[in-house]
Amino acid sequence: MKKFLVLAATVVATTFSAASYAQFAKPDDAAKYRQSALTVMARHFGAVGAMVAGRVPYDAKVAQENIDTAVFMSKLPWVGFGPSGEGATIKNTAKPEIWKDAAKFKEHSEKMQAELVKVQTAAKTNSLDAIKAAFGGAGGSCKTCHDAFRSQ
Ligand code: HEC
Repeated sequence: MKKFLVLAATVVATTFSAASYAQFAKPDDAAKYRQSALTVMARHFGAVGAMVAGRVPYDAKVAQENIDTAVFMSKLPWVGFGPSGEGATIKNTAKPEIWKDAAKFKEHSEKMQAELVKVQTAAKTNSLDAIKAAFGGAGGSCKTCHDAFRSQ
């Protein structure tokens, strides 16, 4: 019985691992997926940005929740830029260079994820100043990749 449970858990884990999501039936499915993930991530990152910019009052709990969601979401878009995401026909701004220089693209995506974790760590100190100090680097990591790999 125990053996069966371990086996069942392994099957479930394998079935639902990120790797198995890597296969999209069509490039457009991959594009929709990555754009959705980026949109949700950006929305929550932007909510923190609004506090950093003073457009909305700082609320430590709301900031924490938003950066937690942004960090989680920041792990998701990249599978949509895998081999099965090349050549989408729906509206998109992904440059072909993404697939020509996948290693560089991955480097940028990892840098951004690390920068978001820095903002998350700062948010845990309940200090807007700490968040401000970390936020610029995170925003910069979005821009660096967009400049190189996204057509405007
Ligand atoms: C590793 C490269 C990379 C990084 C880092 C990155 N982006 Fe992007 N982003 C892209 C690419 C490429 C597209 C275009 C995707 C497409 O059109 O399919 C995109 C598209 C978007 C979109 C538009 C999604 C849509 O619906 O078309 C938003 C919003 C966005 N990014 C926000 C961000 C924010 C905010 C960050 C930083 C927290 C960020 N991105 C970091 C590469 C990146």
